[in-house]
Amino acid sequence: MNIDAAAQSQQSQRFDRFRAGFPALKQQTYLSICEKTILHDDVRAGIDAFLDHLALASTGRSGHERKVSDARGKFARMMNVEAPTVAAVRNVSDGINAVAWAMPMDEGDNVVVSAGAEHPNNLYPWLRLRRRGNEIRFVQPRRNGALDIDAMIDAIDGRTRIVSCASVTFAPGHRTDVARLAEACRKRDVFLLVDGVQSAGILAHDLAAEQVDGFATSTSKGLLGLYGFGFLYVSPNWIDRLEPAYLSRPAVAMQTDDHSAMGGYDYRLQPDSRRFELGSYNLAGAYAADAALDLLLDLGIEAIEQRVLSLAGALTEAIAGLGLAAGVPSRGPGRSPIVTFGTLDAGGHDFSTDLKICAVSAALTEAKVAHTIRRGQLRFSVHGFNNEGDIRRAADCVADAMKAQ
Ligand SMILES: Cc1ncc(COP(=O)(O)O)c(C=O)c1O
Repeated sequence: MNIDAAAQSQQSQRFDRFRAGFPALKQQTYLSICEKTILHDDVRAGIDAFLDHLALASTGRSGHERKVSDARGKFARMMNVEAPTVAAVRNVSDGINAVAWAMPMDEGDNVVVSAGAEHPNNLYPWLRLRRRGNEIRFVQPRRNGALDIDAMIDAIDGRTRIVSCASVTFAPGHRTDVARLAEACRKRDVFLLVDGVQSAGILAHDLAAEQVDGFATSTSKGLLGLYGFGFLYVSPNWIDRLEPAYLSRPAVAMQTDDHSAMGGYDYRLQPDSRRFELGSYNLAGAYAADAALDLLLDLGIEAIEQRVLSLAGALTEAIAGLGLAAGVPSRGPGRSPIVTFGTLDAGGHDFSTDLKICAVSAALTEAKVAHTIRRGQLRFSVHGFNNEGDIRRAADCVADAMKAQ
């Protein structure tokens, strides 16, 4: 065996071992990481360790909080940024709202966002700013549902303070060229905030190179953790300009990390992203995230991305070959872990008006192939735990359902 083939075989064994740690995969074909995570045995062991500590009172607060800072550090490493630029938050909404209300904005200043493409949790936080007298500039996506980066850039003017976009939309699932948007924002001193929940843990990000200003995610999807725990990255270039709307002890700079210590009333904010942290942490979430990040870093995020895009492309081509129109291309820069089929908005959340999509979805459910319907489209998504067998099973099931019509 030559060196390349040996390395490839070792890598494929590492992915096989990773896959073997997910009990759910012994019972079903799971192609729905974009909806929610499945639990790996190591992540469960991490949560169990936390529960054991609670049951036996065997660790103090600072012991628990080391897990929070470990998890922050590991997430930062995955994103190629420094650990103090990352705050432990609850979820995407928490991170987006934190930035929205920390940004100094005058009446008439505006935010640019793509209304027809974003998840509601990347829309309502902005709508709320209208009560502060801010304008929300809704930019229409392209006809295929992808963000229209040119139109977003055109919508920026001298009063724009924030542009917000998903790294990968929840439906149809195109990957966004965040680096291009970031370049345009940087030239105009506009904050680019990325909702990264559909790519974190699955696609490789280099936030320093992409020059993204903010990145919010929960750990409840590709980061393989729990609901109610997530990360907010904020670039050091912006931190001094951002004053969080809420404040509690962790966000205040003091000599000690002791959460009950009282400083003076003349407080100083933490000099980094910890200024966005509030009160006690979701510790179970931190233990889970820490264990999950070990798994992901061990596989390598570049290797995960390569595997995922190759499997997602194969699924797209197999099902498009059966006559269902693909929502996201199998090649090129827009391709992503999310794979969708059918007409966009021919239906909604969990329903389609297209009888073909309904029949295929029913057959997939019967065959225990986990998927969803979003914006009327049949939606699958891929993570590093998936393999060629999963793709074949899903495609065969769709083929049988299409034949039966
Ligand atoms: C693109 C996107 N943003 C945000 C969310 C959820 O936001 P939160 O973490 O605040 O619940 C989802 C969930 O499906 C999503 O797909």
